[in-house]
Amino acid sequence: MLMEKIMVVGPASQILGVKIAKELGINHILSTQTKIFADGENYLRLDLEDETVVQGSETIIVQSTGPSASGNQNARLFELLMMISAVKRMGASKIIVVIPYLAYARQDKIFRPGECEFANIVLKTIDLMEINELYVVDVHAPDVLKELITNKVVNIDSMKVLADYIKGLGAKDIVVVSPDKGAVERSKAFAKHFGDGIPVEYFEKKRDVKTGEIEMQGKLTLEGKDVVISDDIIATGGTMAKAIEISKKSGANRVFAVATHALLLEQAKFRILSAGADEIIGTDSIDNEVSKVSLAKAIADYLK
Ligand code: R5P
Repeated sequence: MLMEKIMVVGPASQILGVKIAKELGINHILSTQTKIFADGENYLRLDLEDETVVQGSETIIVQSTGPSASGNQNARLFELLMMISAVKRMGASKIIVVIPYLAYARQDKIFRPGECEFANIVLKTIDLMEINELYVVDVHAPDVLKELITNKVVNIDSMKVLADYIKGLGAKDIVVVSPDKGAVERSKAFAKHFGDGIPVEYFEKKRDVKTGEIEMQGKLTLEGKDVVISDDIIATGGTMAKAIEISKKSGANRVFAVATHALLLEQAKFRILSAGADEIIGTDSIDNEVSKVSLAKAIADYLK
């Protein structure tokens, strides 16, 4: 008998999870029930009564691990581990895990003595649960995905869908600006989605590893240009706001602040808009008011 595929929609990816299921034509969608015990421990159960539905079925779990009002990264990661463990115990034949935003990805190397490379530990913990496939999206430093035992590990690129959205806004004379020299290659790849010969510029960014303070330098010629500033993550918005400020001073016309994962923490929205951005654009890896671009099709295309 051909078993039906099952989609487990994690509490942090309710919209994206259901959209992916629809793209894949999966009818059997399971949600979860969560709570926090009085001692602070997380609890999760799949919302089902008959466990045999999972037995022998290929099961896809979608759970972003970004912070939100209803759960921080740690809770999201624990919920993810609980979902994997539950479907494994119920006898899923194949476990496919989709983590649209991978928490701790920026702790991929040692910046100061005494630190640990925690991105690696997070991934290894998931890896040790013996899942079959792992999909992440625009992970901060893709090297962290190397050396996992999971058979298939894919870092999905959100650039095309983000570029399509921006083109739809009628952006003209586009220059893609990277807020950090280290992200130039990523920005070059992004620029290709707008057409041939789209210029890519960058600022020099330095972050004080002790205080987190950012310094950014660069004088670009952006007179009359529509500037697309692209980053993998917007956290507090400090990086983006600085890049917007300099772009505006350099003559930029419209400025689009674009990130795959727009966490928008603290005063990020205010900082970015008051610096002169016309629009903040993110994907639904993070479910918030700037999740204007859905990753559902891009992810589903990989899962087909
Ligand atoms: C850092 O290398 C990342 O790519 C982002 O630039 C950074 O995480 C953004 O952080 P924030 O919004 O707090 O400046």
